[in-house]
Amino acid sequence: MTGEPPADLLVANVGELATPLGPGPHRGAAQRALRVVPDAVLAVRDGRVTYAGPARDWRGDARATLDAGGAAVVPGLVDPHTHLVWAGDRLADFEARAAGVPYEAILARGGGIRHTVRATAAADVDTLVALARPRLAELARGGATTVEIKSGYGFTPEAELRSLEAIARLRDPADGRTVVPTLLVHVPPTDAAERAGYVADVCGALVPELARRGLAVAVDVFVEREAFTVAEADAILRAARAHGLAGKLHADQFHAIGGVELAVRHGALSVDHLEASGPAQIAALAASATVATVLPGVSLHVGLPPAPARALVDAGAAVALGTDCNPGSSPLFSPALALALAVRLNGLTPAEALVAATANAAAALGLADRGWLGPGARADFLVLDAADWRELPYALARPVVARAYAAGRACAALS
Ligand code: NIG
Ligand code: FE
Repeated sequence: MTGEPPADLLVANVGELATPLGPGPHRGAAQRALRVVPDAVLAVRDGRVTYAGPARDWRGDARATLDAGGAAVVPGLVDPHTHLVWAGDRLADFEARAAGVPYEAILARGGGIRHTVRATAAADVDTLVALARPRLAELARGGATTVEIKSGYGFTPEAELRSLEAIARLRDPADGRTVVPTLLVHVPPTDAAERAGYVADVCGALVPELARRGLAVAVDVFVEREAFTVAEADAILRAARAHGLAGKLHADQFHAIGGVELAVRHGALSVDHLEASGPAQIAALAASATVATVLPGVSLHVGLPPAPARALVDAGAAVALGTDCNPGSSPLFSPALALALAVRLNGLTPAEALVAATANAAAALGLADRGWLGPGARADFLVLDAADWRELPYALARPVVARAYAAGRACAALS
């Protein structure tokens, strides 16, 4: 007896506990630092970790025990970048791209994202929720205990609010998993004369309204030749900040037109994509607090150069990892597979990829309470179908995640 109240749950017989050292962001060489404890136990009380370490040093009682059977335990994965709320499909785009039509050309002729916008804007909230729920369950099966979901296929302020209402309804209070909602300002009006008015509406009406209703915690803007300019994104990020919302950007997907530099100037939580980033953008990120989020599913699906995660870590930046699950550029429904792809495509080491998908992904959402396992952390963790945690980045599409716990509670939908 230690005098401590008993744990609610003791995860015993953990063959190997592997975790980042603490809250992210972990940058540069620190992104490879893991604590790997053989023969470990994990104790949980009130949804938080109270002990994570060698079994021989654990003292205390527990109301319930889970025998991990020698399996490895890692933090629950955090997917910091998804677009789960969409209607329609992009199968025709997929065929066209396979026949050689570039993604940007499809977008420029009114297809691509604009095709999904037409289908999504026509759907009601019930339909959007029904379409998104199985996608979220699929990400959970792939190890996600926290998922960011962006709007962005609504376009009109009314349709964006409907998407954000759908995201709010995807939160299930009975489930310890977390959904983090973000407004994405995705594509401008096709008529150039309407752009200024659209940006003014976003800044003056949509952002204040969703802030008032608590429908988003961050605002993201797609900065690209076929999307918003740096000046437009600057105005939108200022409006976000004025209403207490964090900033994020989609930047350097096809062209490095200043989005990374803008994100850094704003102290954005993260800047995501970076496939076209070069030495100047890498240096800017390394000198900033903004997390660099890479999305290997896009490189695989669209055939873009992989974002320079290796160079980013070597320069001292903090790299996070997401699925970017969406119908057009990354129909990737497994955070575990994103982790495995980041090793192959983006040049991360297995340890760097685990930190990218946990503590650094949490930092990309402004969350310090998860993505690592130690006293005080949220008890979001995975029991693997493997004795060695490296099976997670190693295996390609084998379901390595055997069980997931969020806030100390067993998650459904993994069996
Ligand atoms: O993150 N880059 C822009 N937005 C999404 C793609 C959306 C789509 O193609 O439907 C992305 O890649
Ligand atoms: Fe995206």
